[in-house]
Order: sequence, then C-alpha cells, then structure tokens
Amino acid sequence: MRKIIIDTDIGVDDAFALRYGSLLFDLIGITTVDGNVPVDMATKNAKFFCKIYDKNIRVYKGATRPLTATPTPPSFDIHGSDGLGQVYDNPCSPNAGNAVNYLIETVKNHPNEITVVAVGPLTNIAIALNLYPQFAEQVKELIIMGGAFGHHGHTGNMSNFAEFNVFKDPDAADLVLSSPAPITIVPLDVTNEVQITAEEIQSTHDEFLINISKFYLDFSIKQKGFNGMAVHDALTIAYLNNPDNFKVIEKPCRVITKGIAAGQTVIPISNARSSNDCFKGLKSHKICIDVNVSAVKQELLKAL
Ligand code: BDR
Ligand code: CA
Repeated sequence: MRKIIIDTDIGVDDAFALRYGSLLFDLIGITTVDGNVPVDMATKNAKFFCKIYDKNIRVYKGATRPLTATPTPPSFDIHGSDGLGQVYDNPCSPNAGNAVNYLIETVKNHPNEITVVAVGPLTNIAIALNLYPQFAEQVKELIIMGGAFGHHGHTGNMSNFAEFNVFKDPDAADLVLSSPAPITIVPLDVTNEVQITAEEIQSTHDEFLINISKFYLDFSIKQKGFNGMAVHDALTIAYLNNPDNFKVIEKPCRVITKGIAAGQTVIPISNARSSNDCFKGLKSHKICIDVNVSAVKQELLKAL
C-alpha cells in the first residue's frame, strides 16, 4: 500500500483530504504548517483528527510563518475560528516534534517509497529541500494542492492572480516548483470544479465531517455563490487514487514572488525568447487542468 505523509494547515477541506487519504493509503504521518490557521492550532487539529478516528498517526509541527513574505491572517472566516467549523472543544496539545526533520529523515530512510501530499503553504517542503536537496530525488512523488492557471476561469482565490497556498508563501512555492522533485500540481482549475453539496456530505454518515463542514458550506454558498463546498485538498488524494479522472499537461512552473501578482503560478505559454529564460533547465511538472467531476465525486463519497 502506498505510504503517504500529508503536510497540512488543517482546516475543513484538509480534514477531508486526511480522511480520504487515511482510508485509501497508509497515512504514516501528518506534518503541520502555518496557513488556514496558526501552526499550533493546525497541530492540535491534526491530533484531534487522529483522536476522532482512533488512528495512531504521527503528528509533527512545522513552520510558524512564511520564508520571507509578510505573514497574512488565518482564514477564520472560511474555516471557523478553530479551523474546524467551531463545533468541537479540542483538548489536544499543540506540542509536537519537528516536521521538517521528520520529512527529511523519513524520505532519506525510505528512498522512493514516500509520497508527500502538500495541502497547505509549501514552507516545510521548501525548508526540507533547502536543508536536504536529495529530498527531491528520494521522494516518490510530491502532490501539491495549489496554484491556478485560468482553466474554467479559475485564476485565484486570494487575489485575481493567486491561489491561497501559493499566495501565503510564494517564495517557498517557487523554490519547491523550481526543484527537480517529481511534482503533480492539483490547482483551483480542477478543485473549484468539484463542489460537494450538504446532501452529499450527509450521505457519507461521517458525523465528524458533517459537523465540521457546516461553517465552510455556509461560507461557500453565501460568499462564493457555490452549490456546495469545494473540497480542494481532497482532490490530491482523488488524483492519487485515479489519475485517469484528470487531464494533465506537463510544463515547468514558477511563481511570481513579489508585486501585484505575488502568488501567481506561471508556465511558458509562448515561444517568446527572453520571457522563457526563467524556465530554462527546469523540470516539467504534471499540472491538472481538467477533471471528471462526477467520477471524482462518486469515488470520494463512496470511500467516505
Ligand atoms: C487551499 O486554501 C485553503 O484554504 C484550503 O485548505 C486549500 O488548501 C485552496 O486554495
Ligand atoms: Ca489546506
């Protein structure tokens, strides 16, 4: 069975990814990062997830802030003031071992065996690659929820140009995407397309997911005009489960790190000579640009 580590800023859709990932794969560890919620809260939430589902999964705490960008506020308006829909009193402690050390040691000791699924800002992964560049060759696959490339009109959810995870730490994202790691990007282009309705969530009979979803569902319907909620992060697991449900292009990818388009993910789109210099020598990554919505939904709901 595929061994995965999920690196997460656990909010509501991250919890869907953790649950889906734990059902389909051998989820050996959860590493946390600052993003939807501060990293202490993300660590408490990851431990709470393990407690709810009675899972003995290792939890490690990662970066408290982006590499160099000015920290931006958490997404309490989307995921609730605790990141999990303000339903539960979470008794778990925020203390945990070092996430970056854990990522490096695990990948080093099990070369080409560990798939890392990154569903928050890429700060931990960037630090791991910086401290231990062989991480790029030894990780089996790196699946990233992040970015936006304009398909189906999805260009950004933090700004006109930038998706949240990349916007939060653009330098980290650029470092990771410029690395030779075997990367698949699961961007807003596909994640915004798969919206799960209240009825569909109810049909899972998963009390925890049903309860934590209410706040995020309400936000998604009222503020975004969706029919349900986009379970962005869970689509990384959907991709691993059945890549045939996704249309993929292969291109190098960089990130605009400063200015009005900070956090924008860019790929070479023309033959313009000098504009493509920034991609020279970079590995192409798989970028999901379309998705079979009904198949992904059906497989997700069946598993949950
Ligand atoms: C991403 O941003 C976060 O709010 C979600 O958890 C997801 O990882 C979507 O842009
Ligand atoms: Ca996330």
